[in-house]
Amino acid sequence: MSRYILGIETSCDETAASVVADGRKVISNVIYTQIPTHTLYGGVVPEIASREHVLKINQVIKKAMEDAKLDWSDLDAIAVTYGPGLVGPLLIGVSTAKALAYAKGIPLVGVNHIEGHICANYLYERGGQDEVGVAPPYMCLVASGGHSHIVRVDDFTKYTIIGRTHDDAAGEAFDKVARAIGLGYPGGPKVDKLAREGNPDAIDFPRASVGDSPYDFSFSGIKSAVLNYLNGAEMKGEEVNKADVAASFQQAVIDVLADHTVQAAIDHGMKTVALAGGVAANSLLRETMKERAELKGISFHCPELIYCTDNGAMIASAGYFEYEEGRRADLYLNAVPNLKIGER
Ligand code: KG4
Ligand code: ZN
Repeated sequence: MSRYILGIETSCDETAASVVADGRKVISNVIYTQIPTHTLYGGVVPEIASREHVLKINQVIKKAMEDAKLDWSDLDAIAVTYGPGLVGPLLIGVSTAKALAYAKGIPLVGVNHIEGHICANYLYERGGQDEVGVAPPYMCLVASGGHSHIVRVDDFTKYTIIGRTHDDAAGEAFDKVARAIGLGYPGGPKVDKLAREGNPDAIDFPRASVGDSPYDFSFSGIKSAVLNYLNGAEMKGEEVNKADVAASFQQAVIDVLADHTVQAAIDHGMKTVALAGGVAANSLLRETMKERAELKGISFHCPELIYCTDNGAMIASAGYFEYEEGRRADLYLNAVPNLKIGER
């Protein structure tokens, strides 16, 4: 018999809920994105995000249950993101999940948002192929708006951080550069699109390595180089080719992300690399990682686009594997805004 988990995600600017069977098969997936609201302000406004979550969460969960055609009594557990993320938004999801778990008598599981992103690699749609997809161990690049890590996934609930950013997250760099060239928020998808019309070799932005760690990242240098380039051009009264800036910046970031991840996989004897987090939606990153991994005889896996950015299905998947390990949260579960990978 299948185990059904309801996953709830509210850590940033998506209110999302999903029912997943056995950690892999997506039965329903409802995402309400607040992007149009925050676009007015050029980025996520935490107080507004909290309010939007309050307004939408009940509808989103109700729809996820209706789409799944399941009764509450069919659920084995409710999984909810309790960190990392914005404290107000996290609390909306956590309080709702606790209330439901208590009222319906269903076990509660707290999920780490970043581990959720990694588990997006296990998901497939109802009616899709019943294949198992990727399975641990593998090396995973997690790149989102707030995080950039290379994580060795030793098992479904066991993670070892191999590399990390020393300053900005990759997604943050995309967002800041997008703002500087006038593309607006959220920057990643817009840079991705504009870069297709530009020349990635037009401008030689730095590929930064940090200290003596071959797997760590630093993106503030690339971001500053872009800003300096734009300022320099403005002072000289030169016209800037935005598509070339987007393409050259993107290429510099992706060269570093892909090379460090593939190198980490080789050095740790991993036969598979995978992608996770919002930046995993980037078309060039997906192509480049695949090419460079396969060149070294390493297989490549990435989640479908819809599961790269924030969603409830990845939380249900991570919750399932935690549940199978016997982990349960109680009604004292609280939001932990700076929760670390692997922390329990
Ligand atoms: O995982 P996510 O939805 O939220 C966080 O947990 O942070 O990631 C959002 C980040 C944003 O910085 C966004 O600009 C970036 O992912 N992103 C992309 C693309 N789609 C989203 N970055 C590059 N290329 C994309 N296609
Ligand atoms: Zn995320």
